[in-house]
Amino acid sequence: MADQVAPFGGFSRATPDDALVNPEVYTDMDEIHALYTQLREGDPVHWCTPAGFRPFWAITKHADILAVSKANDRFINRERTYLSPIEGEEWIRSMTGDTHLFRTLVDLDDPEHRKLRAITNGWFQPGAVRARLEGEIRALARSHVAHMRSLGPELDFVNEVALFYPLRVIMRILGVPPADEPLMLKLTQETFGAIDPDVVARSQRLTEGAGLWSGSSGNAQVDLLALAQTFFQYFGAVLADRRANPRDDVASVIANSTIDGAPIPEREALSYYVIIATAGHDTTSSTAAGGLLELAKNPAELRKLQADPGLIPRFVEESIRWVTPVKHFMRTATEDTALGGKTIRKGDGLALFYWSGNRDADVFEAPFEFRADREHNPHIAFGHGVHLCLGLHLARLELRILFEELLPQIATLAVAGEPKLSLANFVSGLKTLPVRVGWN
Ligand code: HEM
Repeated sequence: MADQVAPFGGFSRATPDDALVNPEVYTDMDEIHALYTQLREGDPVHWCTPAGFRPFWAITKHADILAVSKANDRFINRERTYLSPIEGEEWIRSMTGDTHLFRTLVDLDDPEHRKLRAITNGWFQPGAVRARLEGEIRALARSHVAHMRSLGPELDFVNEVALFYPLRVIMRILGVPPADEPLMLKLTQETFGAIDPDVVARSQRLTEGAGLWSGSSGNAQVDLLALAQTFFQYFGAVLADRRANPRDDVASVIANSTIDGAPIPEREALSYYVIIATAGHDTTSSTAAGGLLELAKNPAELRKLQADPGLIPRFVEESIRWVTPVKHFMRTATEDTALGGKTIRKGDGLALFYWSGNRDADVFEAPFEFRADREHNPHIAFGHGVHLCLGLHLARLELRILFEELLPQIATLAVAGEPKLSLANFVSGLKTLPVRVGWN
């Protein structure tokens, strides 16, 4: 990790526990899955003590992840949401008094969580999302496919399509104007401790000239705080505008909502905007890119989908399982409890490793095979229980439409360079995917 610009110090790989939290290990699918498989088979509820991190239980079996996710009274979110080095957690605590920079849905528990979630639940239901957005999303997908065609046979699918298409959908639902795309890109790419120098450099390149703060103080903590403040200011203006002039967007729904009869507090409203923007972007981008890569590697799978486009929803689910862009979320036990033959103590943290659960041979037939038409696919990439992904119907719709528009136009598809995974242990996926396309 000598070259890595880590916001909170370096990462070690001296022990398997160190490797499990080391972002570099997540750039090699074989290495991380070897580690997960070893844990699933040998110690599925494992007490993990990586250097520089508070210890936690590593939960790697599908059934255990489900059990913990369902018991949201015994396993809560607010103490610790994702794995962060102690140094990072302490820095945030010194500023906010708790472990969160924002107060988003994933940082909260009932009853606050339930009340906040109820504000947008209806907006994100499948019928509502389709009725409101399907036409616009299809037009957006068509324009991205046309853009691909205009580039000729060779292109980088991540940097030409996957990075922008879901971002533009999210901007539409937040009602953010196209001119603010550089700012939104910066938010989603740099806020959550982006430690991948390529991702940060790309974000800075793409947003250069937009008159934005550059985030190059040399101190990653200062940069992160300044970035968070920039977004609170930006979304503060959106909030005020939607209170004065409500529109048909989710930002207006949030701005004009009430909790226990009072207007939603500002920090909660702004955090809501931040989580929709960030959770809805990289996740969907990574899935689109990871799915296309598998089709490029397996032409027979591509042919199946072209012969029967009705299989595309299954392919979308398989891509989500395969990529599992959110690698983990954390919970904290509120009481002593037994899990997998171990005693979890009150206050212990648990990391739910979704990517591992989605390769569990007790649940999936041939889990390490990508099957575009996989029929039985109870993956847990969207989590489970009360925090189940709010945007899952939107994500499925976006992905289905993109591939419905793209696949009929492809005669041949091949990988044209080395696909690379981003350096991150929380939300990650391909940061580059060079392909060669023969167009119909
Ligand atoms: C929560 C995955 C797309 C918004 C989550 C969680 C996961 C996840 C694992 C936590 C679930 C849990 O703790 O049980 C994904 C994946 C996506 C995706 C794999 C795409 C393939 C989206 C999109 C949006 C979104 C498009 C846009 C609105 C959210 C929000 C939460 C969430 C707001 C917090 C829900 C809560 O705590 O109540 N997502 N997500 N996600 N996701 Fe997604």
